[in-house]
Amino acid sequence: MADLAPGDLNRVFYAGSGSEANDTNIRMVRHYWATLGKPTKKTIISRKNSYHGSTMGGASLGGMSAMHEQGGLPVPDISHIDQPYWYGEGGDMDADEFGLVCARKLEAEIERLGEENVAAFIAEPVQGAGGVVVPPSTYWPEIQRICDAHEILLIVDEVICGFGRTGNWFGSDTFNIRPDIMTIAKGLSSGYLPIGGSVVCDHVANVINGGGEFNHGYTYSGHPVSCAVSLENLRILDEENIVTRVGNETAPYLAEKWLQLADHSLVGEARICGMMAAIELTPDKSARAPFKSEKGSVGLRCRATSIQNGLIMRHVGDAMIISPPLVISKSEIDTLIERAVKTLDETCSALRTDGLLEA
Ligand SMILES: Cc1ncc(COP(=O)(O)O)c(C=O)c1O
Repeated sequence: MADLAPGDLNRVFYAGSGSEANDTNIRMVRHYWATLGKPTKKTIISRKNSYHGSTMGGASLGGMSAMHEQGGLPVPDISHIDQPYWYGEGGDMDADEFGLVCARKLEAEIERLGEENVAAFIAEPVQGAGGVVVPPSTYWPEIQRICDAHEILLIVDEVICGFGRTGNWFGSDTFNIRPDIMTIAKGLSSGYLPIGGSVVCDHVANVINGGGEFNHGYTYSGHPVSCAVSLENLRILDEENIVTRVGNETAPYLAEKWLQLADHSLVGEARICGMMAAIELTPDKSARAPFKSEKGSVGLRCRATSIQNGLIMRHVGDAMIISPPLVISKSEIDTLIERAVKTLDETCSALRTDGLLEA
């Protein structure tokens, strides 16, 4: 992991899942600041509509309001700023301007809370479960500048983006981010066995190690069978050039075709990053308008049609998202696109018949 991870992210605290790893991160960043004599630096800033897991800590870091409604979340000392979701929230701004406005909300939140009270900012390079929200190109450089300018740690949640999904080993590589801590899971073992972890930079690891015992650990942290399977998985990814092929060949091929879906009358935006992509369904593309019917109901219908057509597309509200296997071939991408177009055509005519093609 130390060889693969960017920068000086050289130590790993393993866990059984991404959620557990994010719980570790909460305790680790607070313990880090306490060890440095700054115990008030506790608050972690996250983003609305982000996903960081289902444990109390993970779901609190996450910004999904439906999750917060169940179980008395979020736990204290976690705050959420706006997400960089240009299609839904960008209004009249162009995407780059909106990216800067969203990033600067981090700076405003640090100032509101007081830098002496903020431990870290956590974010996914591309929000996955939130609807494959690919941030405008201005967003991450500005976030990095703000984290550098203020005394806070940057936790990059790579549970979806890591291990080739964005066309490089990590989303941090794709967006040129320098994390202090990276959350990993999923692709580490390609899902064959459960494993997660926090990849930690030398500086944070040294402070934690110098602060006496970190009283933290799970029975299955670093489980030897999961680790053996992960090592074998990484070996295969490397030996078969899977990440390189995604980055250089198949993801650009998919992007070219996927972005053409934006020409369909039902699609307001098509966006893609590596092997994760979304289309926004709309009855009125020029206005990026939502449907008159309950949010998500059109997405649900489209999803059912898609599955009938042999294509797994998930719906997040009325956006349809895909996350194909990294080994998908070009001819399989052709099939994927054919089925997506068929699904859009059938969904569109069914909505028209039922009088639901209205803003
Ligand atoms: C970005 C992100 N973080 C954390 C998690 C939680 O990981 P797990 O389901 O392994 O607990 C997920 C799961 O989908 C995720 O997408």
